[in-house]
Amino acid sequence: MNILVTGGAGYIGSHTVIKLIEAGHTPVVVDNLCNSSAESLRRVAQITGVTPPFYQQDVRDTAALEAVFAKHAIDAVIHFAGLKAVGESTEKPLLYYQTNLDSTFTLLEVMRTFNVKTLVFSSSATVYGSEPAPYSEDSPIGRGITNPYGRTKYFIEEMLRDIASSDGSLAITSLRYFNPIGAHPSGLIGENPNGVPNNLMPYITQVAVGKRAELGVFGDDYDTVDGTGVRDYIHVDDLAEGHVAALTHSQTGYCAINLGSGEGTSVLQLVHAFEEASGAKVPYKIHPRRPGDVAVSYAKIARAADVLQWRTTRTIEDACRDSWRWQSGNPEGYK
Ligand code: NAD
Ligand code: WQD
Repeated sequence: MNILVTGGAGYIGSHTVIKLIEAGHTPVVVDNLCNSSAESLRRVAQITGVTPPFYQQDVRDTAALEAVFAKHAIDAVIHFAGLKAVGESTEKPLLYYQTNLDSTFTLLEVMRTFNVKTLVFSSSATVYGSEPAPYSEDSPIGRGITNPYGRTKYFIEEMLRDIASSDGSLAITSLRYFNPIGAHPSGLIGENPNGVPNNLMPYITQVAVGKRAELGVFGDDYDTVDGTGVRDYIHVDDLAEGHVAALTHSQTGYCAINLGSGEGTSVLQLVHAFEEASGAKVPYKIHPRRPGDVAVSYAKIARAADVLQWRTTRTIEDACRDSWRWQSGNPEGYK
């Protein structure tokens, strides 16, 4: 199938493009490179031997997006494009609402024009807000979300549900990612944050490679195994395979599915697993809790197993080793 991948030059998108190619699909990438580099796609070509068609344009540019649909006979869409920095979304909520919502409106309109029925959307465990973990897809969403970024995911999910119920021929899947880490085992592509990383794993790898002095651990007084926050870390290649499965098993209607491992790992457990896998040291210091953080987040994974016939196959150790291979081989990312 010809799969439009919005945001396909980004971290999760580039790994998914590889899995799509390996599964025999033809990905077509639209990305404005606002948080990525075309180098990721050159490396995808190096890994797969296939150069995916790439259009550097904004998803909100309706005419440009129509031209891509007209040229490539798109069968289905995976929609990764969007802004994702939680802290920045609190400072610039309008930018986040405009970018994430408008891009989805434009995409849905162009899909309708070209009679494309299948959409896989990048949602997030953040939609569960203050619900107690583990999160099931039947848990309420939207309550206690602490930032505009998270609310864009919630609003888009609600909109997609309405749109799917208005037209029974649409097949829309929202994949609620838990915490993606890791990199392609080649070490050629990986997470490439701009500036100071917001997320834990890229911070750890930048300390390990000597770019930053020490990790700040946000809180050691949570009610968890060692007092530090617990998350469900998922290898980005498992996540990427989850998208291929979502296309394969896509059904009409609306379906939200957790993509996680079902296991919780604390900040310090991840630090120690990383040190073990890499042989590098990660000095750290305990800081106060980060505002907006929950103590524990992990997934119930039965629906992914039932509907997608998918579950994670890679371990935390695999993810640590692959993150380190990427970071140590590319200390400056794609630069
Ligand atoms: P990323 O920033 O690496 O990838 C997003 C890509 O979208 C980037 O390449 C960026 O240039 C592009 N983009 C942004 N706005 C665009 C626009 N208007 N038009 C065209 N391209 C645009 O992020 P990622 O980690 O790969 O995340 C992909 C998706 O998954 C995002 O929607 C994100 O919110 C969601 N998500 C990510 C995580 C995570 O922890 N990484 C967790 C849950 C959900
Ligand atoms: C993980 C744990 C931190 C950095 C965020 C978004 C979420 C989703 C994924 C997109 C927490 C601790 C972190 C550091 C630390 N993104 N930490 N020192 O907060 O679970 O989720 O990214 O959808 O919406 O909120 O991930 O990697 O930031 O934090 O101690 O320097 O690591 O407190 O316990 P989080 P994270």
